Amino acid sequence: MGHVTLVTGGTRGIGRAISIALKEHGGYDVIASYAGNDEAAAKFKEETGIETIKFDIANFDACAAACKQIAETHGSIEILVNNAGITRDGPLHKMTPDQWNVVISTNLTGAFNMCRNVIEDMRAKGFGRIINISSLNGQKGQFGQCNYAAAKAGEFGLTRSLALENASKGITVNAVAPGYVATEMVLAVPEEIMKKAILPQIPVGRVAEPEEIARCVVFLASDHAGFFNGSTLSPNGGMYMA
Ligand code: CAA
Repeated sequence: MGHVTLVTGGTRGIGRAISIALKEHGGYDVIASYAGNDEAAAKFKEETGIETIKFDIANFDACAAACKQIAETHGSIEILVNNAGITRDGPLHKMTPDQWNVVISTNLTGAFNMCRNVIEDMRAKGFGRIINISSLNGQKGQFGQCNYAAAKAGEFGLTRSLALENASKGITVNAVAPGYVATEMVLAVPEEIMKKAILPQIPVGRVAEPEEIARCVVFLASDHAGFFNGSTLSPNGGMYMA
């Protein structure tokens, strides 16, 4: 069946495209996690034949239980794509502690929870790939996203440090920092803001298709990417050049 692969938030948006691209590429036994939308997950499973698993990445014990369940049924996770994420946009002068905490605990602590629960088996096996889906806005900052940008910037620190700690164990840890992609998350941005403040800043003049991000993940998961470690691929249409 190929490498046991978990894509968090893998039933919708960019995660959906990643799950499908890895399955279609071959060589991956893909499982897609989701947090709450049973209807979308059931539809995804029916359309793609990809197995789903429901748990909250913000809950460490739930992550541990899910990883254990996958290890018992498929084998331990060899490829982890930390994709799940949420937004609670608003300027800091209006942001509530809840808006801050839920974004940090899902987007950043969620990545820690998953990495922590897969890393020991990867180290024992001498192989692993971890791919963290961060964001352009974690690189450059964004109006209305102090919480999200802080979490996404934190993912770069996690990626690079974890890459250093495990480079000698056959494990690579890399990040992808997508720009604006045609997903529900981006569609939630008010049209006026999108037209006036965001689209004019994208040099290629359009948002990305989810498949354009998924192809980066297929590459980073592959043997061809063995020398990429602690790096960031930035599919953002030229919006930010680091
Ligand atoms: N740049 C500059 N000015 C902006 C702005 C921007 N991006 N967005 C809003 N403003 C301005 C408004 O025009 C308005 O100006 P005036 O007061 O002169 O009229 C003012 O800021 C509004 O400020 P408020 O404090 O009233 O803001 P608000 O409470 O209405 O909140 C917002 C606005 C919800 C933050 C809204 O601007 C927004 O949704 N912005 C987009 C945030 C964004 O890009 N999110 C990305 C989601 S996709 C994603 O996250 C995926 C990924 O990784 C890329």
